[in-house]
Amino acid sequence: MLELETIRVAYGQATALWDVSLSIGKGELLCIVGPNSAGKSTLINAVAGLHRISAGRMRFEGQDISRLAPHRFCAQGIALVPEGRRLFTEMTVRENLELGSYLRAARRERARSLEHVCALFPALEEKLAQPAGSLSGGQQQMVAIGRALMARPKLLLLDEPSLGLAPSIVLDMFTAIRRIHAEGIAVLLVEQNVGMALDVAERAAVLEEGRIVALGRPEELMARPELRRAYLGIDDAEDVLLEGAGAAPGATSGAKSGAMAPGALAGAGGAAPATTAARH
Ligand SMILES: Nc1ncnc2c1ncn2[C@@H]1O[C@H](COP(=O)(O)OP(=O)(O)O)[C@@H](O)[C@H]1O
Ligand SMILES: [Mg+2]
Repeated sequence: MLELETIRVAYGQATALWDVSLSIGKGELLCIVGPNSAGKSTLINAVAGLHRISAGRMRFEGQDISRLAPHRFCAQGIALVPEGRRLFTEMTVRENLELGSYLRAARRERARSLEHVCALFPALEEKLAQPAGSLSGGQQQMVAIGRALMARPKLLLLDEPSLGLAPSIVLDMFTAIRRIHAEGIAVLLVEQNVGMALDVAERAAVLEEGRIVALGRPEELMARPELRRAYLGIDDAEDVLLEGAGAAPGATSGAKSGAMAPGALAGAGGAAPATTAARH
């Protein structure tokens, strides 16, 4: 569905993405993790048409979108939920949501889309007439996602949707992401909540200093000690020490590797049970 071929993005003289190649299949959920300043937002914004690529090629559903004007990306079926939400805080929730459906095709579906967003985020329904700025951070994030969905995208781009949210709201957010994905929308998710992101993702990429340094299924990535140390705060040396100290191997690795399994990682925050059922 989306193919990035050795794309490069620079801010003036400073290159932020170096020859990044990545593809997302129809309806796939791919997450990108990596440290601050790795280029995650740059990548997602390039796919949204906000940054021109200086080299390489981007294709969406077979069509070259590398040189497409920024305002055309939405019509192609690509919608972005930017980092920091960017709502119009003085405008009502309903007005913010309706902004997402300004294109003719989406406008025709506006009423149905609004119902759909309210079904996905029930908390928003009774707040439609309130200024967006009066909502909690989590609810504002729901409005931002809702606004993107009002455009009826085929590919949803989410830049750190859980940033700054309380843990209980983060769970709701990931539940919503699973549901959106279950409806057949492809999702490119940038997250600093690595455990949760790897739990929902079908594939994940690790971006460092503008380059993809690892790409694979979450369980493959988590089997790599250096990635576990760098991104999950799990140090394998501790496992060895514990087992060496005579604890029953089953018990030790049960507790430890249980914490490394995708479901269990998010399970630390309580999200595990929904995973498998919701993913397929
Ligand atoms: N508007 C900008 N102008 C100049 N440099 C930028 C701009 N936005 C981001 N950068 C630089 O590009 C690199 C990647 O940033 P970003 O994509 O925001 O990373 P991430 O989202 O992974 O934290 C960083 O070195 C950052 O300082
Ligand atoms: Mg960012």
